[in-house]
Amino acid sequence: MCGIVGYIGPEDAAPILHKALLRLEYRGYDSAGVATLSNGRLYVKKDQGKIEEIHKRLNLDDLPGNVGIGHTRWATHGAPSKINAHPHTDCTETIAVVHNGVIENFIELRRELLDLDHSLISKTDTEIIAHLVEESIKRGAEPETAFLDAISRLRGSYAVAMIIASNPDAIYVARNEAPLAIGVGEGFNLVSSDANAFLEYTQKAVFLHNGEAAIIRRDGYRIIKLGTRSEVSRSPTLIPWAVSMSRKGEYEHYMLKEIYEQPNALRNVLHLQQIYVDLLAELIDRGRDIFLLGAGTSYNACMAGSYIFSKIARTSTYPVIASEFIDNYGSSISADTVILAVSQSGETADVLNALEYARLRAATILGITNTVGSTLTRISRAYIVQNSGPEIGVAATKTFTSQVLVLAQLALRLARLKGKLAQYEMDELYETLHSIPSIAEKVVNSTDGKMREIAENLMNSSSFFFLGRGISYSTALEARLKVMELSYIPSIAYPAGESKHGPISVIEKSYPVFFIVPRDESRKQNIGNIMEMKARGARIISVASEDDDEVRELSDYFVGMPDINPLLSPIIYAIPFQFLAYHLAVLKGYDPDKPRNLAKSVTVL
Ligand code: M6R
Repeated sequence: MCGIVGYIGPEDAAPILHKALLRLEYRGYDSAGVATLSNGRLYVKKDQGKIEEIHKRLNLDDLPGNVGIGHTRWATHGAPSKINAHPHTDCTETIAVVHNGVIENFIELRRELLDLDHSLISKTDTEIIAHLVEESIKRGAEPETAFLDAISRLRGSYAVAMIIASNPDAIYVARNEAPLAIGVGEGFNLVSSDANAFLEYTQKAVFLHNGEAAIIRRDGYRIIKLGTRSEVSRSPTLIPWAVSMSRKGEYEHYMLKEIYEQPNALRNVLHLQQIYVDLLAELIDRGRDIFLLGAGTSYNACMAGSYIFSKIARTSTYPVIASEFIDNYGSSISADTVILAVSQSGETADVLNALEYARLRAATILGITNTVGSTLTRISRAYIVQNSGPEIGVAATKTFTSQVLVLAQLALRLARLKGKLAQYEMDELYETLHSIPSIAEKVVNSTDGKMREIAENLMNSSSFFFLGRGISYSTALEARLKVMELSYIPSIAYPAGESKHGPISVIEKSYPVFFIVPRDESRKQNIGNIMEMKARGARIISVASEDDDEVRELSDYFVGMPDINPLLSPIIYAIPFQFLAYHLAVLKGYDPDKPRNLAKSVTVL
């Protein structure tokens, strides 16, 4: 949700900022801009649109200076427009600021600045920061103090970067509830919302914590606590991802690359550090109420996880949509509550908000994330980093299947701890887990073309239905989310058994209904539901076991899937729907990597 970046070093800043912004574009893409400093002057280029469109119009590489900041935006305050695009400047046009987050008290600060005759031209909350700094400087403060004073007045969430013409030797940054990492180089430094943006230059990252600021220079950085203004020493963490992992390579889109990367991502997940899996299993075992918490796709993984925990570890867990958690369960949180939060980015505001609430009530917080150094890793008592590599496409693909595989391993560990399974059952499940990457490989290679054909036939549909029973309900939810967010076709997902309690009334001739039918105990009932839908004229598209001739015969389109333990089926059955969503988007002329109105990491409540 907005990406910010900064560079200070011996090179021209603008081309480096431009390149880094392209890597951050998944965080927002309605407008972008860059500001640099040279010879005591501030230079700014910004506009509405995606970065490369703006670059064609304005040449974002053509700004002088070795220090600068950049921004790619996902609008919160003020519509996407040139005026609302970042960087924002002060009245003297010597201070430039970029910001990710929401400043809650901006109306009151804006009023105060207007009373002091500042001219505020945008509708954003960000612009006030530049003017607050300007005001302090007018009153005699040095840039560093002016910046720290301005930031200390903000309430809400922010990752901020500022440059000022009177001191071209520094970038001033601060964070609260929005991610910010310093990329530490030899004779240069960068700063970014996501370490991925600077991996090309350095793999050493220092992650700022909430309530911290930093002054970044060519040859070093100082971290300062905003509350006490005391200095904090922190050494860099090594980011294990290779630069090539965040490139598209031969693929037309990141999403397609990430779908095809799944077999390898799943292989990585089978090499989790066992001490952490043990630790999480032990902490889950101590809980009385266990919640699996996530948003969007990560919630769907939690839903699959709750079925897996129930069946393998005989343990009831509650999957909860993060933004609903406090209202629904807040009053029952205690020291006996365990919350396992699942978040690819580890920065989703709805997740962090719920966790902070629970933490203050002594709950045990655990995490599964793909992002080293994310806020989730810092607030969790114990956590697992799933190591799926960077996911640039806004739609979660490889991270979903990996999340479910992490949850399955945890459930198995918990089952062993609680003595819930016989040795032969454990052995069988371990074997199945280890066969998942090669099954995924087969599915990735065999369903792409078939799903494209289905997408071609169904691309003009006005709506879709996705049905599954048991754990396949979580697959239906994930299929619906993928298709809806990328093709913009409104879709419905239901537990198949529940469909006759209302939703079936939408069915009319040729209405497309997708059924997810792995060979499990609910297969017969699923067939009953297929018959009900067929009787009302629906077009049936089944994703089912490849040897299921009965389902094949009942279906207008049939997508055959290899044999798999139904408990792990979401990992495999989600893949054809990722292709479906991808092809629908491409066929309809939409960008599957950057669906409209969305951002990869949702850091506002
Ligand atoms: O980073 P997180 O896993 O916490 O993100 C949660 C959701 O925002 C995310 O899964 C979103 O729903 C994706 N667009 C789904 O493809």
